[in-house]
Amino acid sequence: MSQPTEPAAVIRTSDKQIFCCKSIDKLISESEHPEHRLSKSLGPWSLTALGIGAIIGSGIFILTGTAAAGEYFQAPSILHAQALDVIVNFVRTGSTAGALMHGRPPAGPSIAISFLLVAIACSFAGLCYAELASMIPIAGSAYTYSYATLGEIFAWIIGWDLILEYVVSNVAVAVGFAGYTKAQLAVFGLNLPDKWASPVWAGGQWTGAYFNLPGFLIVFILTLLLVRGVKESAETNNIMVAVKIGAILTFLVVGGMLVKPANWVPFAPSGFAGIVTGGAIVFFTYIGFDSVSTAAEESRNPQKDLPFGIIMSLVVCTLLYVGVAVVLLGMMKYTTFVSGAAAEAPVAYAMKYLGVHPFFRSVIVIGALTGMISSLLVFQYGQARIWYAMSRDGLLPKLFSAVHPKYKTPHWSTWIACFAVGIPAGLVDIGDAADLANIGTLFAFVLVSLGVIFLRRKQPDRKRAFRVPFVPWFPLISILLCGGLMFGLTLITWLRFVIWLALGLLIYVFYSRHRSEFAK
Ligand code: ALA
Repeated sequence: MSQPTEPAAVIRTSDKQIFCCKSIDKLISESEHPEHRLSKSLGPWSLTALGIGAIIGSGIFILTGTAAAGEYFQAPSILHAQALDVIVNFVRTGSTAGALMHGRPPAGPSIAISFLLVAIACSFAGLCYAELASMIPIAGSAYTYSYATLGEIFAWIIGWDLILEYVVSNVAVAVGFAGYTKAQLAVFGLNLPDKWASPVWAGGQWTGAYFNLPGFLIVFILTLLLVRGVKESAETNNIMVAVKIGAILTFLVVGGMLVKPANWVPFAPSGFAGIVTGGAIVFFTYIGFDSVSTAAEESRNPQKDLPFGIIMSLVVCTLLYVGVAVVLLGMMKYTTFVSGAAAEAPVAYAMKYLGVHPFFRSVIVIGALTGMISSLLVFQYGQARIWYAMSRDGLLPKLFSAVHPKYKTPHWSTWIACFAVGIPAGLVDIGDAADLANIGTLFAFVLVSLGVIFLRRKQPDRKRAFRVPFVPWFPLISILLCGGLMFGLTLITWLRFVIWLALGLLIYVFYSRHRSEFAK
């Protein structure tokens, strides 16, 4: 083990504490301190598998159909309309009723292009993550990058914001996993009791259930694994990634034989508008590549391997996603997926409808379940690492950065993440969770892209193992594309997001600000 170097003195980079930035050298030397040092066991392919583990969750199996079919409805209130829609419709019609006209034109088979476009948008952000991860190989990901570039207040905001990406989206995936497992067990005649396998609060009312035990249990079991060791968790994740890639490849081959080229016509029924609005929906399927950067301190050669893991996981998932879209929309007409069972589970529906052998259908079910488990695993892992980094900086209580003496994992953070996700997953069915996760993630992407521009100006000579080409243009394109996708979300999502950030600011003002090393 390398000897820990003495941390450099705290350098105040601004008169105002909220704008003080952390020294990158100090961040790195702190991470080497024996009390906080994590075990370094991950190589480039484990990091790639971590990225694929997080990215391919439930989204590809569920969202592809509805994104292709589109939807039209009158938003029940202005809060449920998309921010950009409201502005455009109000200007167009000049009335508040007109502003509520809301919907998405069908992308049709051109949803494959949407997947490609979102992948391009994510790659710009991915390149920015790769540069910062290679310069600042610290567990906190976007939180730490903001601390080193923009200042303490931005770091706190982004750390707090990332809870939306990691905790909130995992509550949604855990609830989805519970529902999917219950439905599949019922097919085999094993009926889980409703009282113990349904949300207590769903659709705005009490359901009479006591607790959604499968949702809690899956998170609990994964926590046991995560506390036991990162190597063990990564090995389990590698197996799950292989299973889900196998399931998707099975679908591409079996489904590919059922494609009728006539279904691909018209290819883009709503032109470019359909492609763009479809893209806002399928953005959720790409969330997760950034979690590779939370593994920085457990990576053997972070400077080289983190950029590789981030970019490679994006490339693999893009190829698989575009393949699924092309095959699915070739198997059945896009209009099939507008509502009902075809909208809820389009991949499963198309296979059943076209009479695919039950064996292959089971392979897809297993692939979908494994996908959800590995997504849960990596997000639980990432959330614990971010809290761990925030605690080391004094912004969260010290408990969060305690490292298990034997397993060398941040066990307290991991257990707290378990209950922060498992208990809500046992109680509620938060339908809008995906939107909140989207806005939180996009906001992080914007700040990380800004961070690249700032750091190139402030520290142009610092060694970068990976460099984003054409700075500031590539980061600016990333900001523009991610900002554009944020405006595709509903006003109520924006409102919830602002309330969430305001709550975070209160905690900062009354607690974290006084504990930060810059306060001393
Ligand atoms: N990208 C993850 C999914 O599609 C969150 O489920």
